[in-house]
Amino acid sequence: MERTFVMIKPDGVKRGLIGPIITRFEQKGFHLAAMKLMRIDRALAERHYGEHQDRPFFGELVDFLTSGQVCAMVWEGQNAVANTRAIIGATNPVQASPGTIRADFALDIASNIVHGSDSPESAQREIALFFDGAPALETMYRMTGDGA
Ligand code: TYD
Ligand code: MG
Repeated sequence: MERTFVMIKPDGVKRGLIGPIITRFEQKGFHLAAMKLMRIDRALAERHYGEHQDRPFFGELVDFLTSGQVCAMVWEGQNAVANTRAIIGATNPVQASPGTIRADFALDIASNIVHGSDSPESAQREIALFFDGAPALETMYRMTGDGA
């Protein structure tokens, strides 16, 4: 049994797509192990996407990720990492296969609705980042409470 980290980005949350996205993973047969609606600060966004820190889109990516609530989740099941990436689809929605989340719900690479870990090692790192290193519950409620 494998675990992976999935995050619905601020565009997905704002557009009311938490339900449809969760449904796809549930329908495939995965088990939702943890879920948290939260706002992330720049430091967490920068650590999460650290591999991209020298890319030209990094600043905008961090701006985008901190622009509203995200829904952080841990999904578990057989080949969870690869299967989840398949359900999510290619990074650029233009290239994503029909039936994938990014093909069906997104137009633009910069706001492509959802993140999924790209390897078991990334999954472990990202789950620790979002769930073990999480802010105290009280802080979480405060951050989530503004509805932005
Ligand atoms: P990446 O890890 O390459 O894609 P994926 O999310 O499929 O693992 O990139 C991380 C995010 O960075 C991607 O989901 C959207 C954003 N991004 C851009 O805005 N422009 C780009 O040219 C690329 C490659 C990514
Ligand atoms: Mg990636």
